[in-house]
Amino acid sequence: MTARRKLIAANWKMNGSRAANAAWLTEFRAGRWSCDVAVCAPFVYLPQLRDGLAGLAAEPGAQNLAAETPGAFTGEVAGEMLIDVGCKWVIVGHSERRALYGETNDLVAVKAARAFAVGLKPIVCVGETLAEREAGGTLEVVGAQMDAVLKRCSVVQLAQAALAYEPVWAIGTGRTATPAQAQEVHAAIRAQLARADASAAGAVRILYGGSVKPGNAKELFAQPDIDGGLIGGASLVAADFLAICQAA
Ligand code: PGA
Repeated sequence: MTARRKLIAANWKMNGSRAANAAWLTEFRAGRWSCDVAVCAPFVYLPQLRDGLAGLAAEPGAQNLAAETPGAFTGEVAGEMLIDVGCKWVIVGHSERRALYGETNDLVAVKAARAFAVGLKPIVCVGETLAEREAGGTLEVVGAQMDAVLKRCSVVQLAQAALAYEPVWAIGTGRTATPAQAQEVHAAIRAQLARADASAAGAVRILYGGSVKPGNAKELFAQPDIDGGLIGGASLVAADFLAICQAA
């Protein structure tokens, strides 16, 4: 069996201020963990985050990038610019971007490929809505999202980055998927990766996201195909985020 190092990624979403981030970083720097860690902040705070994480086993990440190369795209931020400010990771295809900003399966895949092209490690998010789950469509929806990614990115590339399964109904709702519910989807994603590339599929980290908290992290991360977490609300409190890193 391939050993996959656990990865815990913070998704601060559109939260933070220079003062609040500085306090978070001071508390975080005093902590201990032994997994890989990424902290994904709003664009404007990336230099502060890079400096605050310097010397730690934790890397800065963004939450989005442009699908285009630099040029006349008012308001967009290119992957090249993220690299330029010391960013290592980028969240791609978060359900909020899909639902609120119209990102399609193909656009998400284009952005993931752009991230790889500039040397960023994308955390590519997939997941079904409550209506899709209740209609029995979970594996079909996630399968189609993954198909789009696999048209533009190889499994070998994904093994250098991460996927995140985030059921939309569990995000910010306090309603976590049970470990068994999550494991079922993670195993299906890995089987799909294996159909594309049997030798590399075992090396791809698949994170779970959706109301992960210090109290439920351990049993989620104990599942065979859950390789860490993408943490929203609980990542805003340094002590909670550290506790989740320690659970991994
Ligand atoms: P949550 O968010 O942990 O607040 O549910 C997870 C995410 O949206 O990445």
